Amino acid sequence: MSALTRSPAWQALATHRAAFEHTMRDLFSVDPGRFDRYRIAFDGLMLDYAKNRVTDETLSLLVDLARQQNLEGLRDAMFRGDRINLTEDRAVLHVALRNPIDRPILVDGQDVMPGVHAVLTRLYAFCHKVRDGEWRGYDGQAITDIVNIGIGGSDLGPVMVTQALTPWHHPHLAAHFVSNVDGTHIAEVLKKVDPATTLFIIASKTFTTQETLANAHTARDWFLAHGGRAEDVAKHFVAVSTNGAEVAKFGIDTDNMFGFWDWVGGRYSLWSSIGLPIALMVGPEKFGELLAGAHAMDEHFRTAPLEQNMPVIMGLLGVWYGNFCGATAHAVLPYDQYLARLPAYLQQLDMESNGKSVDRQGNQVDYATGPIIFGEPGTNGQHAFYQLIHQGTHLIPCDFIAPIRSLNPTGRHHAMLLSNTLAQTEALMRGKNADEVRAELVKEGKSGTELDALLPHKIFTGNRPTNTILVDQLDPYRLGMLVALYEHKVFVQGIIWNINSFDQWGVELGKQLAKVILPELEGEGTKPHDASTAGLIGVVNAGTVG
Ligand code: F6P
Repeated sequence: MSALTRSPAWQALATHRAAFEHTMRDLFSVDPGRFDRYRIAFDGLMLDYAKNRVTDETLSLLVDLARQQNLEGLRDAMFRGDRINLTEDRAVLHVALRNPIDRPILVDGQDVMPGVHAVLTRLYAFCHKVRDGEWRGYDGQAITDIVNIGIGGSDLGPVMVTQALTPWHHPHLAAHFVSNVDGTHIAEVLKKVDPATTLFIIASKTFTTQETLANAHTARDWFLAHGGRAEDVAKHFVAVSTNGAEVAKFGIDTDNMFGFWDWVGGRYSLWSSIGLPIALMVGPEKFGELLAGAHAMDEHFRTAPLEQNMPVIMGLLGVWYGNFCGATAHAVLPYDQYLARLPAYLQQLDMESNGKSVDRQGNQVDYATGPIIFGEPGTNGQHAFYQLIHQGTHLIPCDFIAPIRSLNPTGRHHAMLLSNTLAQTEALMRGKNADEVRAELVKEGKSGTELDALLPHKIFTGNRPTNTILVDQLDPYRLGMLVALYEHKVFVQGIIWNINSFDQWGVELGKQLAKVILPELEGEGTKPHDASTAGLIGVVNAGTVG
C-alpha cells in the first residue's frame, strides 16, 4: 500500500465511506440549510456544492486529508516561486502572470514581476497598433485577420477565451486558429484570408513542435506565393515563444517576438504572451480584466480557509468521488454558448496535468488520479449523453456553469436555458423512485402488466452529484476567475495524489514513434514494428485498403 492510502486521513475517509448510507434526497429533507452552508461566492461568481453526497463530517475529513498532504504548504511554495515541478526542475508561476507589479515573486532570488509587466507593456503597445490600424501590411492596408498557429496550450486557451469573449471583439478584426497538422486545417483558414491584411502569430513555447512548425512553414510559403516578399514577412509574422534561437532560425526577427518563461506551463499559458490573439481581439483593457479576475481567484485560493475555499472544495469533492465512490469521469457542462470550448480546454488542463500514475517520488500509485473530463454546452449535451449520466451505470459528477444574465437577451431563451440548467441538477439529485413512477403511470391510465413492464425503465435512481457555478454575467473578469478556479482545482488534486501536475512526459512516446514512421510513409524504407503497425504502414503505402 502507498503512504497515501495507508495514511490516517485516507483511512478515516475509507471508513466513513463504508458507513455512508445517506442519499442526497435524505440529506436535503433533514437539512434544508445545506444550500446556505455549502455555497461560496465572491465578486459575482458562486459555487453551490450542496448537491453532493457529502455531510459536514465528509467535508471535514476531506479537509483533514488536504492538511495531511500539506496542501497549504505546497500552495504557498507555488506562490513563492519554489521549483515544485520536480521532473523539469522548474517553478510553476502562472499566478505571477496576473500578479500586480508591486508584489514581488522571486525565482532564484530574482523578482520576476518587472519582466512580466515589461512584456505586457510591449504586447499591449503592439495590440494598440494593430487594433488602431497603425500596423500596416505590405501594401499599406490595415490588418483585418489574425491567424494563430499553435497547438495544445498554445492554442486551446486562446481559442476558448477568444470565443468566450466574442462580444468584446474588435469590429474589424477576425481571429482564426490553426492547430492540427492535418493540412485541411490550414488550407481551409487560408481560403478565408487575404495575405495583404493577415497577421500570423506563430505560438509555441518550445518552437520545436512538429505540428506548429509545419503549419508555420506552410503559412509562410503561402504568403510568399501570394504577393508577399521575403522583406514583408516581418510585417505579417510574429512569434510567441520562450525560444529566441529557434524563432530566429525560422526567420522571424526576434524584435517581432513576445517572450515568456520556462516557469509558465503550456496549458497554463493563456495569461502570458500566448494570450496575444485574445488581447488583439478584445483589447488590452479587457485582457487586463481577464488577468484581474484570475488574480482575484488566486488571492481567494491563497488566503481563504480550506473549508471556504472554492478550488479546494472542488478538488476535494473530485477526490471523494474518484477515490472513495468509484467515479472515473467528470463532466463540465457550460450553459453558455460562448463557453463552448471550455470542456476541450479543461481536457488539456486537467488530463495533461493529472493523467499520471507515479507519485512525486517515482512510485507507482495504487489509487485513481485524474478523471476523464468531457462535456458539451447545455442544452446540446442533454440530447446526447445525459441519458448515461441520469440512468447509466457510471457515476459521473458534473459541473453546471451558467450566467444569471445573458449577453444576448432574446425572448424567453435565457429563462428556458436556466430552467434546464437547474432542472438537470434537481433531476440528477432527486431521481424518480418506483412509487413516483407508478403514480405517474396510473395517472396516464396504465395498469397491470403494461405498467409493470414500463416501471423499471422509468425509474431514476438519482443521488448523482453536481456542482453549480453561477456568474452574474459572463465577462472577462468572471472568465478569468472561472479559469483560475479550475487551474487551482487541478493543483489541489495533484497535491492530494502526490503527483507532479506540471510535466507531461506521456505525450512524448507517440511523438518519437511518429518521427520513425514519417520517413516510412515517404518511401524511405521500413523499420521493424509489430505486425499491426507494419501492416497498417503497408496498407497506407499501397494507397488502398483493397
Ligand atoms: O502536448 C504536449 C505539449 O507539450 C503541451 O503541453 C503543449 O501545450 C503543447 O505540446 C504545445 O507545445 P509548444 O507550445 O511548445 O508548441
